[in-house]
Amino acid sequence: MEDIVSEVSSSIVEGCRLSVKMRNTDDSRLAEILGIKDIKGQKYYYVHYIDFNKRLDDWVPEDYLDTRRVQYPTVDKDVVPATPSGMTSPKRTQPPSRCDSPDSAFGSSPLVNGPNVLQAALQKRKKRKLGGAMPEPEDTRSESGSPVPGAAPRTSGSLVSNHDDVVTRIRNIEMIELGKHRIKPWYFSPYPQELVNLPVTYICEFCLRYKKSARCLERHLQKCTLTHPPGNEIYRKNTISFFEIDGRKNKNYAQNLCLLAKLFLDHKTLYYDTDPFLFYVMTEFDSRGYHIVGYFSKEKESSEDYNVACILTLPPYQRKGYGKLLIEFSYELSKFEGKTGSPEKPLSDLGLLSYRSYWAQTICEILVGMKPGPEGERPQITIGEICEMTSIKKEDLLSTLQYLSLIQYYKGQYIICLSDEIVKQTNRAKERRRIRIDPSCLHWTPKDWPKRGKW
Ligand code: ACO
Ligand code: ZN
Repeated sequence: MEDIVSEVSSSIVEGCRLSVKMRNTDDSRLAEILGIKDIKGQKYYYVHYIDFNKRLDDWVPEDYLDTRRVQYPTVDKDVVPATPSGMTSPKRTQPPSRCDSPDSAFGSSPLVNGPNVLQAALQKRKKRKLGGAMPEPEDTRSESGSPVPGAAPRTSGSLVSNHDDVVTRIRNIEMIELGKHRIKPWYFSPYPQELVNLPVTYICEFCLRYKKSARCLERHLQKCTLTHPPGNEIYRKNTISFFEIDGRKNKNYAQNLCLLAKLFLDHKTLYYDTDPFLFYVMTEFDSRGYHIVGYFSKEKESSEDYNVACILTLPPYQRKGYGKLLIEFSYELSKFEGKTGSPEKPLSDLGLLSYRSYWAQTICEILVGMKPGPEGERPQITIGEICEMTSIKKEDLLSTLQYLSLIQYYKGQYIICLSDEIVKQTNRAKERRRIRIDPSCLHWTPKDWPKRGKW
């Protein structure tokens, strides 16, 4: 019997679909094989569970596969043939192995550094006349997560899509150490090849340089004098600070931040050219310094009124309210600018949950807080007024009101009806959200980038 199983599993190739057990559960789900590797005679399969987010993709041993029913792939000329080891990978030249090479290679070597990998990919895409590759909304993707041919090209920005590349479909960094945290990445990020498949990649939590060993990081830390992100600290309240970093002035930091963020952002493409962006890094302070918790990036000029390009809370800090704090801060900046704004689309699954929750709570707090007139008349507010008070863009405001089923058509006009349940929920959510942005702690004057003529 065992022989039959191993015979079947040896016929498993990339692109096969079959039922695969999910780690830490007894569940098995339909999955696609994206990669195969052989470690000391034991085969491992990189699987993508169909209809699940790619962050659940994983290397699993042979016995996770249910080989009784296998759907074999139709021949795909894009698939790189397996190497003799069984691992599918593109041919890449190994950079010299020395302590500083990943950092010192940044921007100099034609092959190994992150931006150059991106640049190459960008050129490759340009050649294919796909333009800068619009990040595909979830619903334009095929089931496997790869883009549907003909997805609309992006019209501006220097972006590279990862979805069509055999290499980038497989998570390449096993683990990162960032300050006191060990974090398992979710997705591919174009770090230098030298770091790929190391058990741990060490990242300086202040300047975000990456190192291939603890010893290299130690040597770096003896020289690195930073105890906070570069740029200006524009907000501080208790232990929370925000630093504003100009992608042109602090290019290395901005690029390293993008590489780090890409480990947890899949649906977004990575910004190669950081010049047009500002980065707002949120930190938590203790006696050792200002530790990065999350960030968002923002175009200096956005023709589409985007006030956030990418947003991330690092996994150890997620689900504690920091995401909403980042979102709140982004709207606070828009209020200072006297504009409404919206996050760049598409949103990830978690991004959508967080924004929906933020919009709903912000809007409901305003509505619940409204007082009746002196004669007991119903309070009145216009959509425009709510937009102005919150800096939330009208489309997002309307979609939230609809999502919450708050708008009703009554006697020829639209009215907003707040049920007791909504009032209770709003008050409960307000109680739970302890940390808030205090606008009086924001020391910032918006720059008029279009007027300045250059970034
Ligand atoms: N499952 C269910 N709900 C969740 C989850 C989850 N895994 N994560 C967050 N939420 C909900 C929370 O319950 C909360 O809603 P509630 O207050 O109504 O209960 C809301 O989302 C926000 O939670 P926070 O704790 O404030 O957010 P967090 O710090 O976890 O950060 C973020 C949210 C930034 C989206 C984070 O999940 C992340 O970094 N994800 C990876 C990167 C990403 O997807 N970024 C968004 C891309 S879209 C864009 O860039 C414009
Ligand atoms: Zn450093």
